[in-house]
Amino acid sequence: MTNRLWQLAARPEGVPTAEHFRLVEEEVPAPGPGQVVVRNEVMSVDPAMRGRMNDVPSYVAPFQLDQPLEGGAVGTVVASESPDVPVGASVLHGLGWREYALLDARHTRVVDTAAAPPSAYLGVLGMPGLTAYAGLLDVAHMKPDENVFISGAAGAVGSLAGQIARLRGARLVIGSAGSAAKVKYLVDDLGFDAAFNYKDGSVRTQLKQLTPDGIDVYFDNVGGEQLEAALFRMNLHGRVAVCGAISQYNTPDARGIRNLSLLISKRITLQGFLVMDHWGRRQAFVEEMTGWLRENKVQVPETFVDGIEHAPDAFLGMLRGENLGKMIVRF
Ligand SMILES: NC(=O)c1ccc[n+]([C@@H]2O[C@H](COP(=O)([O-])OP(=O)(O)OC[C@H]3O[C@@H](n4cnc5c(N)ncnc54)[C@H](OP(=O)(O)O)[C@@H]3O)[C@@H](O)[C@H]2O)c1
Repeated sequence: MTNRLWQLAARPEGVPTAEHFRLVEEEVPAPGPGQVVVRNEVMSVDPAMRGRMNDVPSYVAPFQLDQPLEGGAVGTVVASESPDVPVGASVLHGLGWREYALLDARHTRVVDTAAAPPSAYLGVLGMPGLTAYAGLLDVAHMKPDENVFISGAAGAVGSLAGQIARLRGARLVIGSAGSAAKVKYLVDDLGFDAAFNYKDGSVRTQLKQLTPDGIDVYFDNVGGEQLEAALFRMNLHGRVAVCGAISQYNTPDARGIRNLSLLISKRITLQGFLVMDHWGRRQAFVEEMTGWLRENKVQVPETFVDGIEHAPDAFLGMLRGENLGKMIVRF
């Protein structure tokens, strides 16, 4: 049987392109003791993968040149040498970017695809969902009746952070996104109180108009200009959960934040975080999110790109904002 998988062909400087990826074929390997072979059905493309294309030390190892890329995926076990994870089981694991993944069974987690579709474990019930939940509640310590601003609000993390803020009793939930259609979706479908297109002129002016009583919590997915604008609008003792800085991932020499002295006068807390430090909250998060889903209180936007041969297109498209909610590659 033939396996198709994507390798890192070259390291990008600035915006990655198709030339940085290479599709190769190999034989599907047989599992050794304790191992399984998984036929992937869906895989995630994440902004963090852009960071792993750089050869720099970080919290997760960089992708290696001429080696397969990695990332979250869900599939079905088709061969198993592990009594714990039998053939037919659906599993979540970290070896996406390939049709068949060979890995130790202990590096997989069995998921219930009758209870939720496979893509849910890469989004609303998975890493992005927990990021939104922990960032908002444990890092920014959002409380009822607070004013919340979320950038990147129409993406995987942002769309959930905004809905969690609403369900947890925020007084005002404001979002930003990169198109008129996304802005409309945030208000009409996800229940944001208001939203704006950060490409429509001054972010600072638009945010000021929508937050007459200031911002208590800012969930920052993009950094740069929007972080600066939010700091101007933060209330006394405001909290910023610094989740991501996607506006700078392809432009490392982007200019800095010029108003950090506001942290002093307004006693603002600016707290960076990584979801991997919050796995302890997974059970509480899954329970609460499952309840909201059952009661139809949370919408789950997803954008699908079909075919492993289009995986780089999905990744590059996500970086350009072509996704509404979670970007998923469907095999
Ligand atoms: N700290 C953690 O543990 C953790 C975990 C997961 C994700 N993250 C971070 O959270 C953020 C969102 O991740 P995600 O997986 O939910 O991705 P996503 O929001 O689903 O997709 C990325 C989005 O970024 C937006 N974008 C691209 N360039 C931008 C720019 N210059 N300025 C503003 N927005 C831009 C695009 O939407 P528009 O159309 O709106 O531009 C695009 O849809 C990322 O920064 C990611 O690195 C952090």
